[in-house]
Amino acid sequence: MPQPAVEVVDDAPALARAAADVVAAFVAADPDRTVVPATGETPLGLYAELAERHRAGRFDASSLTIVQLDDYRGLGPGDRRSLYGWMDRALLRPLAIADDRVLRLPADGDPDACAAFDRELEARGGIDLAILGVGENGHLGFNEPPSAAGSPTRIVALTRATIAANARYWGSDTDVPTEAVTLGLRPLLASRRILLLASGPRKREIVHRALDGPMGDDVPASFLRRAEGEVTVIVDRAAWEPA
Ligand code: F6R
Repeated sequence: MPQPAVEVVDDAPALARAAADVVAAFVAADPDRTVVPATGETPLGLYAELAERHRAGRFDASSLTIVQLDDYRGLGPGDRRSLYGWMDRALLRPLAIADDRVLRLPADGDPDACAAFDRELEARGGIDLAILGVGENGHLGFNEPPSAAGSPTRIVALTRATIAANARYWGSDTDVPTEAVTLGLRPLLASRRILLLASGPRKREIVHRALDGPMGDDVPASFLRRAEGEVTVIVDRAAWEPA
């Protein structure tokens, strides 16, 4: 199993460009790819860069299939905290990707529906490219610690650390839902290609633990070292080197 390749770039704008080069080359080689895009702050620069290339006629995402990575559980329609809404604003609309090209997670996380989701994803050939961020606690998607490498798509209880980290998007801790539905580590780690992005000093410790620390359920991102496909980690200096 090849180890993740690490590319260190100067700063967040350089990270967005480097990641966009990887995504654009991957999609150009086969426009019908199946892609999982993380929400959160880290990939926003990448998505803006792709949108810019799309406007300039240099990137066509219209044939992609998008697989939803995660969402808070059981939000009502139009809830401002929906991560589907975040993905829609950051990626689908700017890249003119139609709603019907998205494989959506079951919003209520019903176990039978989650199992059916994993089966359908597998029947469609699985994930070609997963674009991921990492939580300061090592989560991938909302696979919170502890998560086993074989974990399926399911409901998870969010940890205090994640609720505190996500409060910055929604106001305060009490505005953050306590449960989520996440694509499991099993389908994620079976992706043909994984691009992990990390930016800023808050991610430095977890990036090094994930790549060099003990591999295990308490650092879900450490399982990237046993992913089936090619893993590329792009980090900026602040997320890699001591200040
Ligand atoms: C978001 C997601 C999360 C984030 C992670 C990092 O869909 O799945 O795993 O990627 O929490 O978030 P940011 O990028 O906001 O630091």
